[in-house]
Amino acid sequence: MTPTSVATAHSFVAQAAIDDVDLAALAARLGTPLHAYSSSAIRQRIGGLQAALSGLDATIFFAVKANPNLAILQLMANAGVGADIVSVGELRRSLHAGMPPERIVFSGVGKSADEIAGALTVGIHRFNVESHDELLTLQRLAKAQGVTARAAARINPDVDAHTHAKISTGKSENKFGVSIDEARRWFAEHRQLSHVQLDGLHVHIGSQILTLEPFRLALQRVAEFWRELEQAGHTVTSIDVGGGLGVCYRAGEDHPVAAADYVGVIREALAGYRGRLLLEPGRYLVAEAGVLLTRVIRVKPGIERQFLVLDAAMNDLQRPSLYDAWHDIVPVSDESRPLTTYDIVGPVCETGDTFARNRVMPECVAGDLLLIKATGAYGASMASTYNSRPLAAEVLLNQGRYAVVRRRQHFEEMIAGEQPARHWETT
Ligand SMILES: Cc1ncc(COP(=O)(O)O)c(C=O)c1O
Repeated sequence: MTPTSVATAHSFVAQAAIDDVDLAALAARLGTPLHAYSSSAIRQRIGGLQAALSGLDATIFFAVKANPNLAILQLMANAGVGADIVSVGELRRSLHAGMPPERIVFSGVGKSADEIAGALTVGIHRFNVESHDELLTLQRLAKAQGVTARAAARINPDVDAHTHAKISTGKSENKFGVSIDEARRWFAEHRQLSHVQLDGLHVHIGSQILTLEPFRLALQRVAEFWRELEQAGHTVTSIDVGGGLGVCYRAGEDHPVAAADYVGVIREALAGYRGRLLLEPGRYLVAEAGVLLTRVIRVKPGIERQFLVLDAAMNDLQRPSLYDAWHDIVPVSDESRPLTTYDIVGPVCETGDTFARNRVMPECVAGDLLLIKATGAYGASMASTYNSRPLAAEVLLNQGRYAVVRRRQHFEEMIAGEQPARHWETT
């Protein structure tokens, strides 16, 4: 193998500590693969966004799907952040973490009747409704419980978010939301719904958005509709602007928009709006606060390429195999080594179990500790036990200290609930 160039690891920005916690010592103690999150970094993101929103009647609702660990949700709740949920499982997690029901909103195209009934029972803040059938189901279930459900119509503004097709949600071909024409009919008819207070608008056009223009366009369409509704005598007490703010996965290449600029677009597009604003960021609050610590199992010279085989795999972090997503991968040690090129892969029996192709890295040997960066969102939350690999541990870091917030799954936990087919029954 010929090194492509020689550089000190410093020029490659090795990272030995996060939130003042020594990563080599942490990995030695807790093992790898290990998801680690900096609570200081998360609090900083929340604080920055809250500061940008100052003067507005605005509340942040964290998109739980990005990282549903109870400790993360607890941190959010303590910082005054609510929860944007998409399932009854996320509802239960949020309540369990101490999130008050009035700080929970429920989004998603496939809320089942049971899920809607459960959310009504605990009295969540609002349902972001995505279809007429859902609206009627909400009415039926709220009436059965003798309560009034607060609802917002999720608008599909037909805006291109210029992001990966699998995380685009605001184009007319996507399954999310309804057209403005349809939402207009809902408002016109909603007085017939005795138990649904339809008085909000919601929009979420996609994820990992790195420019302001798609947000501006979507919010302009929402603003136009809000004005039309007010002129027609409807009250719009809340506008939920969704999430989608992008983060830096590739140093030097990804240039996320600043919170103040993003909020500037909201202020401008919704100027004159007197109701409450809701924001649903997920990735922005947690992605860059997280890393996946992993060790090199071996360096395998392949037929055409050289492979760096890690003990983390696509079951621990799906984004590269699912979206061809880039994650920076750096060594923990700053020992000076020549650079070389690897395909960086996991042990799972899929060619798609590849974190990076042709990646220039300091030369590695078995046992080296590496960091896969910006894995705090859609990392552990999308993990599986594929290839019967137990779920990795998760740890929260805070100013030199750590707390295990999910212990590494045991084999027995992984197979719990499975059993031999002993009792055959008929339906
Ligand atoms: C309705 C809704 N809100 C918010 C989010 C959070 O998106 P992001 O993590 O990009 O901020 C999502 C993500 O899928 C979503 O579907």
